[in-house]
Amino acid sequence: MADFNTLDGVNVAGKRVLLRADLNVPMKDGVVGDTTRIERTVPGLIELADAGAKLVVITHFGRPKGERIAEMSLKPVADALAKQLGRPVKFADDCIGAAAADVVNSLKDGEIAVLENLRYHAAEEKNDPAFVAELAKLGDIYVNDAFSCAHRAHASTEGLAHKLPAYAGRLMQAELEALGNALEAPKHPVMAIVGGAKISTKLDLLGNLVAKVDQLVIGGGMANTFLAAKGVNVGKSLCEHDLLATAREIFAKAKAANCEIVLPVDGLVAREFKAHADHTVSDINDVDADGMILDAGPKTIVDLNKRLESCETLVWNGPLGAFEIAPFDTATVSVARQAAKLTKAGKLLSVAGGGDTVAALRHADADQDFSYVSTAGGAFLEWLEGKELPGVAALRG
Ligand code: 3PG
Ligand code: MG
Repeated sequence: MADFNTLDGVNVAGKRVLLRADLNVPMKDGVVGDTTRIERTVPGLIELADAGAKLVVITHFGRPKGERIAEMSLKPVADALAKQLGRPVKFADDCIGAAAADVVNSLKDGEIAVLENLRYHAAEEKNDPAFVAELAKLGDIYVNDAFSCAHRAHASTEGLAHKLPAYAGRLMQAELEALGNALEAPKHPVMAIVGGAKISTKLDLLGNLVAKVDQLVIGGGMANTFLAAKGVNVGKSLCEHDLLATAREIFAKAKAANCEIVLPVDGLVAREFKAHADHTVSDINDVDADGMILDAGPKTIVDLNKRLESCETLVWNGPLGAFEIAPFDTATVSVARQAAKLTKAGKLLSVAGGGDTVAALRHADADQDFSYVSTAGGAFLEWLEGKELPGVAALRG
């Protein structure tokens, strides 16, 4: 059972529903790039509109820090949303005050409006009570559908939940349920794959995961720091030599928690960081002094794919190699496809998220078959760190 209020059984007909979405999408030259966040938001909006809500969508866009920066207007995003919805969307050029009130008051049941960028007001990020009160005037109930902003304690993500009757939107609900299944009450054995360049940004995350999962696979540049901590010579590979002691602490913590840390046993070693660079397959103990490990090697891939077969649950964050440059995407692609295949066959529950991960899974053509791919970057990482996200905590109320 969810310990937050969902929209189940809530009568929204004729009510002004103030819905915090995350429409912070990539934009270039006024055109929305990846529309995933919009697409994921749409079904929840349609459900509410079709139930007769007067829907008022609020969101931030970029980091204008309280200034009305024209490039950070939500107007093009509202247009992209209308296109995805296949319905008109009204637009107010401010999120509070008369401009907002006029548009909200003009809504008929089932109509949708988007209000201008919340972060045009510095008070948003300060969670200023006066600003919360201004926003609250625009709604009868508050729906937070922005899991990917739940690590921010801002007026629209936290403050409003204390001011109006508050509910988790459908996307928030789906994220919380998927993440809960993967880490709060998972089926064991649980494997976590954590990759990416550096451990310095993921220390809390690794510390939390070793206490929760049975196997922690470390890949990408991060693996080199752990290898070096074990005395392996990683040549010129990316490695945080100042964090070897920290890596050893994580080994000790893992041992105490009965978590196996899985490191690469071989790698693709090159002398330059570029696509199709000359490379050799090298045992992890034989890396040349001037070599760089840019991907996990074939033995590691076989090992990981085999391990996955006996896992029930997988949590994935970060690539296993330099996946942006072929052929150093090989390990990421192979293991992602194995996870997707096992998931599709009903043998694995797989959840992924955070920064580069979605791009990596998409590159592997594996994202569609994962149980759940989170739209969140920073919020997913903080969740992996075991932190209570303020936006979620406020909904538990
Ligand atoms: C994101 O893109 O991660 C969210 O929209 C949060 O944005 P922020 O990092 O600017 O708070
Ligand atoms: Mg961010």
